[in-house]
Amino acid sequence: MSENKSVINFTRGVPADESFPIKDMIEASQIALEKYGTTILQYGKSFGFLPLREWFAEQHGISVDNVLTANSTLQIIDFLCHQLLQPGDVAFTETPTYDRTITLLKRHKAEIVGIPLEADGPNMEALEQALIKQVPKFFYVIPDFQNPTGLTYSLEKRQKLVNLAEQYGFWLIEDAPYRPLRFRGKEQPSLFKLNPTRTLNLFSFAKVIGPGLRVSVLHGQAELLAKIAKFAEDTYICPAMFNMGAAYQFCVSDKLPGQIDKLKALYAPRLQACLDAITQLLPDVEMTRPQGGFFLSLTFPEGITTAAVLERAKTYNLNLAPGQAFFPNGGGERFLRLPYCAMPPEQIHEGISRLAAVVKEELGIRNL
Ligand SMILES: Cc1ncc(COP(=O)(O)O)c(C=O)c1O
Repeated sequence: MSENKSVINFTRGVPADESFPIKDMIEASQIALEKYGTTILQYGKSFGFLPLREWFAEQHGISVDNVLTANSTLQIIDFLCHQLLQPGDVAFTETPTYDRTITLLKRHKAEIVGIPLEADGPNMEALEQALIKQVPKFFYVIPDFQNPTGLTYSLEKRQKLVNLAEQYGFWLIEDAPYRPLRFRGKEQPSLFKLNPTRTLNLFSFAKVIGPGLRVSVLHGQAELLAKIAKFAEDTYICPAMFNMGAAYQFCVSDKLPGQIDKLKALYAPRLQACLDAITQLLPDVEMTRPQGGFFLSLTFPEGITTAAVLERAKTYNLNLAPGQAFFPNGGGERFLRLPYCAMPPEQIHEGISRLAAVVKEELGIRNL
């Protein structure tokens, strides 16, 4: 190991600081205050800021009754768990899946059944086998540029999934914060588009404007949303109206398409740098090949654990995250999530070079 190496963090999936549209948000906030000051500084309806809901409904060709806004996606997932789960109820997730959702499901005492994720979506045989045993209250899925793998579902699997949801009668919770961030390849229809009656779709402004806003949108069946709105009212009266006003003004000023283009131009070379460096420097390691989003993932060869790599990586000033947290039913001992968005390509290359040195040392030990 060489001394004086700066620290490299491949740990958290956060947007790049340089991605934030600060100037446009200053402008949007000012206009929002001028136009809607008394509304957005006052308590409002628990469904959220009406103009934002209307804008969202228009974008998706749905009724405003099908749109609820709240403080963050995680808050919405928590509300949905309150509404849909009793202790001991079954919920399906992908394996691996977003670790914070696993935490929420456990807090609600759900019995989690993980369905293995393949390059084109969930393993359908495993899903059908699991459905024969027990029908879940919902299946929580991230079909576009999944966290933690970066994988995206094929059209066939999307279709099959909504058909199964219909046939067996369970909800699909479609969490789609990375969906607008496609760098290449063809967009697939959302599950909500394929089956609006069975799907509860979650969109977040966290990854396209900034997570500090904590503005997210749930769209789905109006009756269920009304129940969530009542629960939201009893929880916090209404969500952060000021933030919603600023987000709305940003969107209605038509800043979102340009911002998304800016993000793609910033992040696509970072993904490419990651893919190139791994292909070149880590030939023994299995990797996913995402077409967008924030993450890709690695699986180390047999005999090499992420825990050992993580420990040794510290001596290279390289911080990595444990893989097991993404696996609801155990496993993930050789899994590593790599978030690449918050680092410039040179730093990514340096980080992967350090990782390659660590893996080489671990392989050396294994072959002794
Ligand atoms: C799949 C997924 N859902 C939800 C979130 C969190 O979204 P929010 O900041 O809106 O709570 C993240 C953030 O990493 C995520 O990856």
